[in-house]
Amino acid sequence: MAQRSSPVHSDDAQDPKSLDIRGLSMGFGDKSVLRDIDLAVRPGEFVALVGPSGAGKSTLLRLINGSHRPTGGAVSVLGTDPARCSRSQLRALRARVGFVFQQFGLVGRLSALENVLMGALGSLRMPRYGAGSYPRPLRERALQNLERVGLAEERFQRCDTLSGGQQQRVAIARTLMQDAELVLADEPVASLDPNASVSVL
Ligand SMILES: Nc1ncnc2c1ncn2[C@@H]1O[C@H](COP(=O)(O)OP(=O)(O)OP(=O)(O)O)[C@@H](O)[C@H]1O
Ligand SMILES: [Mg+2]
Repeated sequence: MAQRSSPVHSDDAQDPKSLDIRGLSMGFGDKSVLRDIDLAVRPGEFVALVGPSGAGKSTLLRLINGSHRPTGGAVSVLGTDPARCSRSQLRALRARVGFVFQQFGLVGRLSALENVLMGALGSLRMPRYGAGSYPRPLRERALQNLERVGLAEERFQRCDTLSGGQQQRVAIARTLMQDAELVLADEPVASLDPNASVSVL
């Protein structure tokens, strides 16, 4: 396409894309990891990225959430290029994009419920300490999201005592709290058994 090198793609109005990646390349030092990637994801689409270990899947997701700057090409996430964002613009963009990390990123000493509630922090003004300090509607939604991933009973259990698959489900419930427009998930069902994988997906 003619606008390949342009970070803002002018055909967005006719064909809105949640994610629009063009000619993306990424390397670390001399090592080239991604070469000339094109990918478009439209609202409502469910896309799975499949590849062997070390292929660059996590790197691609980190480029999309603005943790890395590409060495070439352009990324548009909900119409914004994360590599061109200021810190506050990046924070605003990340509030609209849910991210389930490959390493979960839970706070081990906090309960499952508190970890899920932290998914709503982007929509709150003040820091919160303890589940009781969150507004009741959010606590109810957090519990619903824990129920959705089959963990209502474990809501008060410390996350560092949950099994790997349970921790992964807490991380997914936390992301659901964000009501994100786009959800990126890095191997979101890697630690789950086949039945749990199907229901979580
Ligand atoms: N910060 C970094 N510095 C140097 N090399 C890196 C860095 N991050 C990733 N790499 C390299 O980039 C390549 C792709 O890594 P990445 O984590 O994206 O793979 P992956 O497809 O997610 O693999 P897996 O399925 O094992 O999670 C690997 O060779 C890795 O060693
Ligand atoms: Mg990975």
